[in-house]
Amino acid sequence: MSLENQIQVIGLKSIPLIKEGDDISQVITDALEKHKLTLENGDIIVIAQSLISKSNGRIRNLSDIKPSGRALELYETINPKAKNQGIPTKDPRLIQAILDESKDIIRAEHVLITETKHGFICADAGIDKSNIEGEGNVTLLPKNPDEDAETIRKVLKSKFNKDIAIIISDSFGRAFRIGAVGVAVGVSGIDPILDKRGEKDLFGYELQSTIMGQVDSLASAAQLVMGEADEGIPVVLIRGYNFELNENATIKPIIRKKELDLFVDSERIKLTKILRNRRSYKFQFENKKVDKNLIEECIELARWAPSAHNGQFWRYCIMEKDILREKLINKMNEKLKKDLQDDRKSNDFIESKINKTRTNFFEAPILVLLCLDTIDLEKYPDRERTQNEFILGVQSISCSAIYFLLALEMKNLAACWYCAPLFAKDLIKEILQLPESYIPMAFFTVGYPLKVVKAPLRRELKNIIYEIKTNSGQKS
Ligand SMILES: Cc1cc2nc3c(=O)[nH]c(=O)nc-3n(C[C@H](O)[C@H](O)[C@H](O)COP(=O)(O)O)c2cc1C
Repeated sequence: MSLENQIQVIGLKSIPLIKEGDDISQVITDALEKHKLTLENGDIIVIAQSLISKSNGRIRNLSDIKPSGRALELYETINPKAKNQGIPTKDPRLIQAILDESKDIIRAEHVLITETKHGFICADAGIDKSNIEGEGNVTLLPKNPDEDAETIRKVLKSKFNKDIAIIISDSFGRAFRIGAVGVAVGVSGIDPILDKRGEKDLFGYELQSTIMGQVDSLASAAQLVMGEADEGIPVVLIRGYNFELNENATIKPIIRKKELDLFVDSERIKLTKILRNRRSYKFQFENKKVDKNLIEECIELARWAPSAHNGQFWRYCIMEKDILREKLINKMNEKLKKDLQDDRKSNDFIESKINKTRTNFFEAPILVLLCLDTIDLEKYPDRERTQNEFILGVQSISCSAIYFLLALEMKNLAACWYCAPLFAKDLIKEILQLPESYIPMAFFTVGYPLKVVKAPLRRELKNIIYEIKTNSGQKS
């Protein structure tokens, strides 16, 4: 039988129990010697993550962990579900350790699906209670598995003078299939993915979308030899796999970008899109009626905005196109004209100012007036506190206004916030017969857009985050 196209997967037995500080490349060298093996060009060594974690001291003991309120909350959420599924419940201290290792909790069901700080999506942030000695000890994923792989590859390369690759592996469950499989969490010398796009298949068709997760396949092959339980084979040598050496490889390209992840984060991606895509729409709207119920649904969402002492000082008036609204806009324009004439502005200036918004207000299928209801503002004897209370009322209704704008965006409605009512408060109150405690604050024109609006530039992050200096003059 020809030996071509064969891959050998050789488990290295007799690896001792690893302690913090142990040199893993030496451990591997000793194991190879015991097996009377030496390294060859193109060999791949797959190392179980637990080995690296132990040598790096990435171990925590549950007795040292105090669960936070969030951990206890998650405990209450997941444990009944775990019991229902007949799987062991989780210690709140373990949940805390998982939180500490996670960038995000993706799902809290009968298991905790997390995004680790490296960006891996896996159960329990990759924390493992098995294959670790000592009561209450758990292993954490290595902090930087690529770096660990690189260090080991460099040492072995110089010892054996061979070009090899290293994979640090773990076993992860998968979203749509039962059963954990081996995956790579760190690499050195080998690209995690193999892009086959553009290559031809058996029948000469160009592959359009095939990208192979080669290091995960290799980690899975190694897993078959490593086993999950007490086989005690945390290092596997793979020989005969044809790959291109890449000295700069990292695990990062195998992590699907959030915007391309159709499952895990779809809700959050939607929210991110809404936050980024909302624009102030100052153009002609489509000639299409907007259902008043839609606006009410958006105001219903706007109720959930934060407000100072939960005062919920916002009041919304929905105005469809009618005679009263027309009268209101005309009167506001008359006032604006008079104010500007009093300011001695030129006729051209006044005309352009009025024209700027007049059509938008008249033509908007819906015009919403937002008022601050001062009735529930705290009353103070002094001016400063009264003023502050007023400010927090304005801040609060602004929060609701933002929720409202985002809710409209979610319903594919375009809108713009206009400050005109601020300059015609009494007039608006009189024409619309608003309660005495109301202060008109803003208009929102709402309708279906006819065009896509380009986003105005935003200031760079570094220009809006002010770094506070410590006393020693250093940045905090
Ligand atoms: C408090 C406030 C008042 C605003 N007043 C007006 C206004 O009177 N006229 C106007 O054309 N746009 C007004 N805008 C919209 C801003 O011009 C717009 O939000 C800004 O240019 C950023 O554009 P974007 O909302 O598309 O990101 C106002 C926005 C806010 C938050």
